Amino acid sequence: MEKENLAEPIRLKEFEGRISRGEKIEPGDWMPDEYRNQLIRMISQHAHSEVVGMLPEGAWITRAPNLRRKMVLLAKVQDEAGHGQYLYHAAETLGVTREEMLDALLSGRAKYASVFNYPTLSWADVGIIGWLVDGAAIKNQTMLAQCSYGPYSRAMVRICAEEGFHMKQGKEMVIRYAQGTDEQKKMTQNALDRWWWPMLMMFGLPDNVSTNSNVLKRWGIRTRSNDTLRQEFINELVPELHALGLNIPDEDLRYDEDNDDWLSGEIDWDEFWRVVRGNGPCNKERIETRRKAHSDGLWVREAVSAYASHMEKRSQL
Ligand code: 3HC
Repeated sequence: MEKENLAEPIRLKEFEGRISRGEKIEPGDWMPDEYRNQLIRMISQHAHSEVVGMLPEGAWITRAPNLRRKMVLLAKVQDEAGHGQYLYHAAETLGVTREEMLDALLSGRAKYASVFNYPTLSWADVGIIGWLVDGAAIKNQTMLAQCSYGPYSRAMVRICAEEGFHMKQGKEMVIRYAQGTDEQKKMTQNALDRWWWPMLMMFGLPDNVSTNSNVLKRWGIRTRSNDTLRQEFINELVPELHALGLNIPDEDLRYDEDNDDWLSGEIDWDEFWRVVRGNGPCNKERIETRRKAHSDGLWVREAVSAYASHMEKRSQL
């Protein structure tokens, strides 16, 4: 074996030692290709999800019921754009370019959270998304803040702080509407009916079929499983939604006294894969909007790079 290959097993052993000691892996450190590739996959798709995730709620900014709600929603949607930037930058530290990531998204090779391929049909959707979708993201991202890769875990700390505001503003809306007029209650229940199952899919495939979880846990990218986080979030949500007089759209949901768990009915993974493979209600519209935003922004990217090379030349005079 060449020297380089001989070093591989030793380097892998050292790397795994670092992971088991809870050390953070930084961009310039040696890492197995599979570790790098898993991180590029996960972080870039996370970034795509943040930016595409702006679109469902963004549709309601011009239709917010009052100035306060408009300002809060504007701030939230703007935060998501910033989260996307943090995460694209974290992915770039692994050697992938922004253009490569965008190309993977726009060509359909890269995924983004399937939950964002559903329409927001009423203002109450903004409240339910804030509480349930951002809440699910926080559940997952709080775990990712422990991730072994430094730039990703640090981005998560910052993002989780802002997601906390997103969840609270959504929850405050749902509490108000669930105790409001009959029309507000109906609108809120209808939104819950439509977002409950796509939200549960955000936690990923069941542990026994997940194709990525084992390697992610082996190298400390994830520290808890998809099903554990999903169950924990269901246990938190059900009592609170019931207390508001809202029904969970799952006729098989039952309480397991022994384990103090609310056990969900079967998630429709055929629906999940139908949407992930591009056949959800809004996939085409979401990708077209991203494609148009990317091409409309070409002149900005060209101006910034022209300015950067001009300044580079000037600094060499
Ligand atoms: N939507 C789309 N694709 C999904 C998915 C979902 N909800 N859940 C799983 N998948 C995909 C995976 O990406 C994987 O495909 P790939 O190998 O081609 O990437 C395949 O289905 C198998 O799924 P696994 O469960 O084995 O994949 P993971 O173990 O990676 O789990 C995940 C999926 C939980 C999304 C995990 O990748 C993860 O934690 N990613 C980082 C967090 C993230 O991306 N969150 C998205 C939401 S961001 C958000 O909500 C914004 C907030 O501001 C509202």
